[in-house]
Amino acid sequence: MAIILDGKNLRDKILDNLSLELAKYAIKPKLVVILVGNDPASQVYVNNKRKMAVRVGMHSEVVNYQADVSEDELLDKINELNNDISVDAILVQLPLPAHINPNRVIAEISPFKDVDGFTPYNFSKLFCGAQPIVYPCTPRGILLLLREYGIEVEGKHAVVIGRSSIVGRPMAQMLLNKNATVTMCHSYTKNLEQITKTADILVSAVGKNIIKGEMLKNNSVVIDVGIFKDEYGKLRGDVDFDSSSKIASYISPVPGGVGPMTIASLMLNTVELYKLKNGIND
Ligand code: GUN
Repeated sequence: MAIILDGKNLRDKILDNLSLELAKYAIKPKLVVILVGNDPASQVYVNNKRKMAVRVGMHSEVVNYQADVSEDELLDKINELNNDISVDAILVQLPLPAHINPNRVIAEISPFKDVDGFTPYNFSKLFCGAQPIVYPCTPRGILLLLREYGIEVEGKHAVVIGRSSIVGRPMAQMLLNKNATVTMCHSYTKNLEQITKTADILVSAVGKNIIKGEMLKNNSVVIDVGIFKDEYGKLRGDVDFDSSSKIASYISPVPGGVGPMTIASLMLNTVELYKLKNGIND
């Protein structure tokens, strides 16, 4: 049976350490989240982010816009936040409504307040193999989880399924920068199973239940980024846990695996931006 990669436990350790660290600072870091519309999943994510920010003792504000807000209004708000000295970190919750160009909105964020690491400045650094100011939260959380369990990446065959800018693309680059041999798969990939069967580390970020135990290499490490509700309202991931946990050596559960690590990384990134702004380098 596979060992469970417990993201909740590691998140709690990280947040406890951050709480202790933030207790030392008279002025606390401030994270501002921009949420457009009322997508229930986004509302849950944003609410969790706010709760965790409060738990570690930082300031957190959510700016909620109606779904029909104009792109210009969002750009104006981002500019205001870029110039607001009290704000350390800005996050625009994705996805945005179809009439808004997410690339334009993200590009408006100052790279020094870009807590997701999604701006062209930070993304291009990552894709050049250089150091961005901060790393995207979900891939960073996954690498922290692997490190916690002593799982080496170097020289391994890592297969990433899904090419989103939030997870798949930055994940592949970060694994590559850690000297993995990386294969990217997506909805047009042929013979997915032939490829997954050769994966030492499999990261699935699709949002559909596509991975079964028989698609895995023996003793592989399986990271499930997907999270959605099935027809019975039960939270599910991309990976069929029962069959996969019999083949894999390590597996991340849903819920309780990658999700908590994304939030832990968001808190770490916020504190890093705060320290950079304030010239704190301990
Ligand atoms: N939507 C789902 N995950 C994320 C994330 O990590 N950052 C942002 N900005 N939006 C998301």
